Amino acid sequence: MEFHRKGNSGEELSGMTEFVKTVNSIDQQVIDDLYNGNVQIFIIKNAVKEDVQKFGELEIQDLYLKKEVPIGKDESDHVLQEYDMMWHSDRAYNAVPHTFGGLYCVDYEEGASPTYFHDNIKGWQELPKDLQEKVKAEGPVFHSIRTYFDRADYPHNFRSKAYERHFKMNAKGNHSLYYNDKFGEYIFFSEGYANTKYLNELKEHMFKPHNCYTHNWEVGDLVVWNNYTTAHRRDHTNPQVKRKLIRYAFHAV
Ligand SMILES: [Fe+2]
Repeated sequence: MEFHRKGNSGEELSGMTEFVKTVNSIDQQVIDDLYNGNVQIFIIKNAVKEDVQKFGELEIQDLYLKKEVPIGKDESDHVLQEYDMMWHSDRAYNAVPHTFGGLYCVDYEEGASPTYFHDNIKGWQELPKDLQEKVKAEGPVFHSIRTYFDRADYPHNFRSKAYERHFKMNAKGNHSLYYNDKFGEYIFFSEGYANTKYLNELKEHMFKPHNCYTHNWEVGDLVVWNNYTTAHRRDHTNPQVKRKLIRYAFHAV
């Protein structure tokens, strides 16, 4: 898709944005294309999990307080695979969510849920004009993890009641749904976290199948994405079926 936007130093940029690109290795071009917003999602085949460190310093992720968050059905602290997850960007409940996310596939069996990604640039372009205007006029809206609990089951067993209370009280912030920045013009909308007045209208018009990509996992896949210009979700997976992923987060440098 063609883009026109301003670069880091205010320079005029134009070219093509690719939603999803598959590569076999990570070179400087891949890193630059992700960081500059030229490619929204990279799939790196036959990777090792350490490859994610080539993209930058990994962040400690709240809730788990570690740089690698296991997703599946381990005994240890992890994200539960048994629940559907709504469309979201990771940690969109924070005032400043991390810029990029990653998932690495350790194990995956037939019947496990794929991960679905949505193009927030195209999603914005295809919203009705009056809804675009309303979203712009609304400005920053309150986001919180507590909102997710009100709308759906959150896929995590908390290690203690005290930690659960702390997390629900503190994981919150205000930010706009509309962005126009170096990644382009897009909507940054998480249906589980955003307390927008236009929740139902947005859910009606967003996440059209033709703006989505379905990633069926293979062991060794590393998928990294722009956490602002894409949203993602998954279906539940039966506990008997293996689906082990590791989640990462990193900021733009
Ligand atoms: Fe996520």
